[in-house]
Amino acid sequence: MTVVLEVVIVGVVAGGAVVAGREDDVGADPATALLGGKVVFADVDPETLNLDPADAAARVTERTVGIIGVHLYGRPFDVDALLDLCQKRGLWLLEDAAQAHGAEWKGRKVGGFGQLAAWSFYPTKNLGCFGDGGAATGNDRQLVERVRSLGNHGQSVRYTHMEIGTNSRLDALQAAVLDAKARHLTAQSRDFGDKRLWVGTDDPLIHD
Ligand SMILES: Cc1ncc(COP(=O)(O)O)c(C=O)c1O
Repeated sequence: MTVVLEVVIVGVVAGGAVVAGREDDVGADPATALLGGKVVFADVDPETLNLDPADAAARVTERTVGIIGVHLYGRPFDVDALLDLCQKRGLWLLEDAAQAHGAEWKGRKVGGFGQLAAWSFYPTKNLGCFGDGGAATGNDRQLVERVRSLGNHGQSVRYTHMEIGTNSRLDALQAAVLDAKARHLTAQSRDFGDKRLWVGTDDPLIHD
């Protein structure tokens, strides 16, 4: 759900196109389509399964408004290349970090490179709660605050509804579960031949 709110915010409207990799079949791509935007699929790198920046660049047209990259299986996409592409072409970057809690790109945690990043705490994720949950981060505080407001019936001040929103709050019980489990999230460097960091947990109680 977080990702739906984020796609609303970055302004995908009918006719707007978003370039995304074929790996994002449950996240931002359906959200884009639901809003009437067009998803233009780009290839993924067969080695990493992350969005191929060169192919993404080749698919940008004047209708393109943004790029959605997935840090698939906790392995960050090529942040430098996609940020460069977005800056050059005036596009926003949305990070799908649903599977990437704690993962790093060149020593910096993912989730703050794009304007917005969407996280999932679905129980199968490496940081999962006991039901559904999600979160938004990003490098634009105002946009992140707007996600929060949209997920709280469009109110930023109690009982003051500035726009139409929905109920997508993380309930306190799930937050307590996440608070406890987050302590068991351990970073494990994986030999990707670069500076990417994969994060998982080696605690069987957490995983199963
Ligand atoms: C890469 C990716 N994006 C988005 C989602 C959707 O997350 P949620 O179901 O919590 O909205 C998932 C979860 O399956 C995912 O793995």
